[in-house]
This record gives sequence, C-alpha cells and structure tokens, in this order.
Amino acid sequence: MERASSWLLQLLLFLAAIRLARAAPQVPCYFVFGDSLVDNGNNNDIVSLARANYPPYGIDFEGGATGRFSNGLTTVDAISRLLGFDNYIPAYAGATNDQLLTGVNFASAAAGIRDETGQQLGARISFGGQLQNYQSAVQQLVSILGDEDSATNHLSQCIFTVGMGSNDYLNNYFMPAIYPTSQQYTQEQYADVLLDQYSQQLRTLYNNGARKVALMGVGQVGCSPNELAQQSTNGVTCVERINSAIQIFNRRLVGLVDEFNTLPGAHFTYINTYGIFEDILRAPGAHGLKVTNRSGCCGVGRNNGQVTCLPFQTPCANRNEYLFWDAFHPTEAANVVVGRRAYSAATPSDVHPVDLRTLAQR
Ligand SMILES: *[C@@H]1O[C@H](CO)[C@@H](O)[C@H](O)[C@H]1NC(C)=O
Repeated sequence: MERASSWLLQLLLFLAAIRLARAAPQVPCYFVFGDSLVDNGNNNDIVSLARANYPPYGIDFEGGATGRFSNGLTTVDAISRLLGFDNYIPAYAGATNDQLLTGVNFASAAAGIRDETGQQLGARISFGGQLQNYQSAVQQLVSILGDEDSATNHLSQCIFTVGMGSNDYLNNYFMPAIYPTSQQYTQEQYADVLLDQYSQQLRTLYNNGARKVALMGVGQVGCSPNELAQQSTNGVTCVERINSAIQIFNRRLVGLVDEFNTLPGAHFTYINTYGIFEDILRAPGAHGLKVTNRSGCCGVGRNNGQVTCLPFQTPCANRNEYLFWDAFHPTEAANVVVGRRAYSAATPSDVHPVDLRTLAQR
C-alpha cells in the first residue's frame, strides 16, 4: 500500500515535470489577419458561399470541419505550433478574454484589401473590418490588463501575420464581368492602388500596438487548379497573366516592409510565399508531394467547374501527396512546408529581412 502510493507520487511528480519542461511559447501572443488561406471559422456564421465548416474539410484535423479551407492544418496553424503555442490560435468569432490575451485569428474567406472584393460570394470581413475587430479587441485588452501602457507593452511582444491580396486579384481584378478594376487600371496601377490602401491599413495596425509584423506575399495563384482548369491554354501551364500581376504586387510589398521598418520600434518582414510555391512546383518530390497539377484532392479536376469541395464528397486517399486540397487551397502537407520556411527560412529569398523565428526574438 505504502509502496503503491509512493509509486503514484513519483508518477505524479514525473508528469508535473514534463508539463513544466514543455517550453513556453517564444512570444506571449499571436494575431492573424487574412483570407480563406488562414480563416479558421470566422465565416461559419455569416451568409457566404466561402465557407468550409462541413466535411470533407478538416478530415485530417483533430477538431474536424472547423471552417479551415484545408484537410488539416493551415499555414498559421503550422506557425503557431512552431512558435511553441500549446493550442492553435482560435477564431475571433466567439473568442474568450483569456484567448484575446494569447491572440486570435481575424481572417475571413473571400476578404480583400478592397472592401468590394469577394462580394459575389456573399458576406465577408474585409481587411478594414478585420482591423475594426482588432481595435475592439485592443480595447478589451486595455480593460483586462488594467491600463493602456500594459496593453501597449503586451502587444509589442506579439507576432502578427497578415496575408491579404489574393482575392483582390482572383475575386476582383481577374473577374472582369463583375468588377471594373481591370478596365480602370493597368496591372502596375492596380498594384499601386492596392498597396496605397494596404499601407494605410497597416499603419492602423501599427498605431494600435503591432510591432512584430510578417506580411505574407500572394502565392502563385495562376497555378491553382481553378485557374489551370479555366484559364490555362493547355490545362497544365500556369496562367502567366495572373502570376505576373501578383509578382508586381509582391515586389512592392517588399518595398512597403522596408518603409515600415523606418518607424520607431517596427519589425516588419515579408514572407515569400510565391517563391516557396515555385520551389515546391520545381521539385515536388523533394517536398514529399506527387500531384501538383490541376487535380486537387477534391474539387476541380475531379469534378470540373467546382470551386470548393462539395459537402460529404469523398476526397483522395493519399492527401499528403497532393499540393492542392481543393481548387484554390493547398493541402496541410503544402501549408506545413510554407509555415516551416516562414518560421525558419530555407533560403535567403524565403523572407525579407528575417524569418519568424528571428522576429520572435526581436
Ligand atoms: C495529375 O497528376 C496525377 C499524378 O501524376 C495524374 O494521375 C492525374 O491524371 C493528373 N491530372 C490531370 C488532370 O492531368
């Protein structure tokens, strides 16, 4: 009896030690802004075609179909894990006070830098709306922490990732039947107009306490199954017109990072999602992937014309070999590659000027 209880005590001490040994996260908090690539449920209760809270979405995620546009993890889930958080950063919709302290995710599928972007898909929270939600969250943090100085100090230690722009091309500029922007602006002018607005919005983020900010570039949207199926001449070659417009945007985004870094206390960085995708397409095998063409694991390619997976559609079995999960969104396998290289750059061109691991230590 005595022996058994001392054994139990030792076991409890051992378990407590394991818990203590679990490293604290590298930063106290992580806030996320973006679109469907990182939305984790903010669109679930709004009237929109851009929703993913039904199977087979989340088929490989412990919590099932949460609203993530992936079979499993998104890029920011992978990043939050690498930063040492025990839990994934929760959606702002329905977040508790405790969760506000460690950070929340404001991302909304179909959202853009421009307010009208994505409107043909229904309601969404544009980047402007996400910033309004963030400002409410900051006010709540001030009352939780007691005063503005404490909130400012807390926020200055948080990581922020912001990934906007894909929809301003896909669900705006390159949808001329619905949006007039491609008649109003050349690709160069449109990038300027977007960057002007983005810059003002990011200034709001900075004015509300954000200091460690990573701007995720727009990926190779012209190589997504949807664009390959609809706009590629042979269904195989990436749509150059789209990719070249996105590269103009990305190049100016790098310039914006340099500008922000002249502000007091600012540590901005650029994550070269486009280049990382290019690397994967050049050597899929080296990244453990086999299918990088217009066959998504579910959606277009398996069922032409379809944009999201249909409810309860049976997806491919070998999901970890696919680059794309549905017509627009990468699989967990691809998201994990992007998250890993954003956190710890594999080549100098992955980030500008620093990776997230370095940003966390600033
Ligand atoms: C895409 O690649 C896979 C694997 O190589 C192949 O089985 C499939 O038929 C291809 N799909 C299309 C639409 O070419």
